[in-house]
Amino acid sequence: MGRDQRLVSPDGHSVKMSKLKLAVLISGSGTNLQVLIDACADPDYPAEIKVVISNRPDAYGLERARMAGLEAVCLDHTTFDSKEEFETALHDCLKEQQVELVCLAGFMRLLTSPFVNRWKDRMINMHPSLLPAYKGLHTHARAIEDGVRFGGCTIHFVRPEMDDGPIIMQAAVPIKPDDTEETLAASVLAYEHALYPAAVRLIAEGKVRVSGRKCVFKDVNVPKTGLISPVTTP
Ligand code: GAR
Repeated sequence: MGRDQRLVSPDGHSVKMSKLKLAVLISGSGTNLQVLIDACADPDYPAEIKVVISNRPDAYGLERARMAGLEAVCLDHTTFDSKEEFETALHDCLKEQQVELVCLAGFMRLLTSPFVNRWKDRMINMHPSLLPAYKGLHTHARAIEDGVRFGGCTIHFVRPEMDDGPIIMQAAVPIKPDDTEETLAASVLAYEHALYPAAVRLIAEGKVRVSGRKCVFKDVNVPKTGLISPVTTP
């Protein structure tokens, strides 16, 4: 999927290459969508949003898409007779827009195996926990309840199992003694916003690929230090 941003044409001119074509699928507020919109506004960012699709008509993210002048489509799942019909409409919409990478950003519908397999290694998801811990809902409340010291978020390629698939990036966020579900969600969301455009860039620039159950990387840095929480004096 990697592509150079510029090529040199035979007459010596610099020619712009096409950008990675994204669809962003949402169900709600769309703050992750917003950071992708903002990233794509940079002419040097290697991806562009072709379409924003919501399964809920009242999703504020649709408004964000319209304000950015993007194609905003509502496929209200309640108006379809079956999951298959909903996913056929979704697939048709993605094909019509020539989408190359599907970005699930707070999209709260489980997708069936046939649909997921059709988009294998071409669909990514943001999940608000350090996978494989805390799959499913209420991730922050469950982490606080368990007394774990770190929460976080994960962006991964999608597989048919819920919240499963090769992990692209993660951010770990310390849980403070007075954190509530809401405060932890807000802390983690800021890291989701850092991760999403960065992960899309890695894919668009061909710096990450799937190998078996894992992602393998080219030319990326990892932090040199770990984190200890609570901070102690030796
Ligand atoms: C985000 O926190 C995202 O990680 C989560 O929904 C929120 C959407 O926020 N996704 C899931 O829980 C998917 N399993 P947003 O609409 O403001 O981007």
